[in-house]
Amino acid sequence: MMTRKTEDVFETLLNNQWIGSESGETVPIYAPDDHEVVGRVPALSQEEVDKAVQHTAEVQEAWEAREGHERSELLHRWAEELEKMTDEIGEMIHLEVGKTLSSGKSEVKRTAQLIRHTAEEGLRTHGSFIQGDAFPGATKQTKAMVQKVPHGVVLAISPFNYPVNLAASKIAPALITGNTVIFKPATQGAISGLLMVQALVKAGLPEGVLNVVTGRGSVIGDFIVTHPLIDMITFTGGTDTGKHIAKKASMIPVVLELGGKDPAIVLEDADLDQAAKEIVSGAFSYSGQRCTAIKRVIVMDRVADELVEKVKDIVSALNVGTSREDASVTPMIDQKAADNVTRLIDDARSKGAAVILEGVKEKNLLGPTLLDHVTEDMAIAWEEQFGPVLPFVRVESEQEAIQLEKRNEYGLQASVFTKNLENAFAISDKLNVGTVQVNGKTSRGPDHFPFLGVKNSGQGVQGIGRSIDSMLRDKVLVLNL
Ligand code: NAP
Ligand code: G3P
Repeated sequence: MMTRKTEDVFETLLNNQWIGSESGETVPIYAPDDHEVVGRVPALSQEEVDKAVQHTAEVQEAWEAREGHERSELLHRWAEELEKMTDEIGEMIHLEVGKTLSSGKSEVKRTAQLIRHTAEEGLRTHGSFIQGDAFPGATKQTKAMVQKVPHGVVLAISPFNYPVNLAASKIAPALITGNTVIFKPATQGAISGLLMVQALVKAGLPEGVLNVVTGRGSVIGDFIVTHPLIDMITFTGGTDTGKHIAKKASMIPVVLELGGKDPAIVLEDADLDQAAKEIVSGAFSYSGQRCTAIKRVIVMDRVADELVEKVKDIVSALNVGTSREDASVTPMIDQKAADNVTRLIDDARSKGAAVILEGVKEKNLLGPTLLDHVTEDMAIAWEEQFGPVLPFVRVESEQEAIQLEKRNEYGLQASVFTKNLENAFAISDKLNVGTVQVNGKTSRGPDHFPFLGVKNSGQGVQGIGRSIDSMLRDKVLVLNL
């Protein structure tokens, strides 16, 4: 059982033992709301990380050999134990990453549902059987049986903004398919991740099947990513980090879910009330700290004034405050992130953007800001802000909107608002993104849908079924009868 030592030092999991780092070194985690220390997690050394990986690799074959239904039953028990901890883990998410308490609890509930769905879907993976005579020179006597087998040891690296859901969305598919897991949580969110793992231990996690390596990614990241016993990496986080990992990791599969610059493309025939509501929710939920947040509005100039006014009316009513006050817009994850948003706003203003609404600035608490007449010379037209600021870019034609979207380095999602579904399909066909939402805000859920980014938004596909696929490889047995 993980114990909360004095000075709020949490322990990490090594072979089902809750341990601190041998050096006693820890990493403090500060609450975005009040910058108080929420707790500390062990800062593991490379030697300790190596030991964790060695153990996890040693037990992988035995875990793979377990019956699939046994692995599925473990996940079902995990979901059950997680739900029992909804209040405790929800509270920790709330404290650690500044989500409201209700959002923190919702994340835990959503994760239990994801785990259950994975536990069932993971039992239905199938290989194939191929006759040789389909190819000239081969005969019916040559037959191939193609199995799906696990990679081995999966390294799961998660981001701060969904410290439980985006961790389990990697861990559960890995475990159900017979892989063992090294889990590297985002430092900000690591305590929530450790509590999530506590639920897995309670559910009966076999020793070593999952180990947790805590410590700053900038310190232990390269070591773990290049460790020879890691057989697959599934990463969610920033584009720069993802690209760095992809360069470091060699000869193993890497799934990357990265940054985004999701546009809301609003056409002249759009329902502007619906579009405004979806845009505000998409842009400012969790203060815009979502990869799938709406990060720019590309709007036909003829309806732009009306849309901006509608968005402004809704945004003006958002309450700004701490997550403890259950505010709509809450403090950002840290000062560095907030400073980046301020930089983008100041740059746009200096280049002539119209500041329609400017939010309060109190350290890492930034109120929502709306920028109109944003032009291509402004950084915010291109860079991921990952915060509560929304630029409006006006265009004269749908073609211009499509070209603008395609020239962006990101390609996660896009929303198209129009009453003409045929036109929505036509535009969707031309956008180079992972997902197009028609008349809805950009978002990842529901969690069984494929979820992917192209260009600098990622490689490979997540979403329960596709995540399960990514954890398996072909193994071909050829019969020469
Ligand atoms: P981040 O700074 O890239 O960190 C993500 C994870 O990578 C953390 O666990 C981090 O550990 C670890 N890390 C950092 N450097 C590493 C290295 N050299 N080797 C291995 N791991 C390393 O991202 P974040 O700030 O947590 O999340 C914000 C970004 O993630 C945004 O760009 C957002 O768009 C993106 N994101 C994308 C998705 C998606 O599904 N597409 C979802 C959520 C977030 P530390 O915390 O210890 O640094
Ligand atoms: O940034 C996290 C990404 O996965 C967004 O999830 O469900 O808020 O769209 P969601």
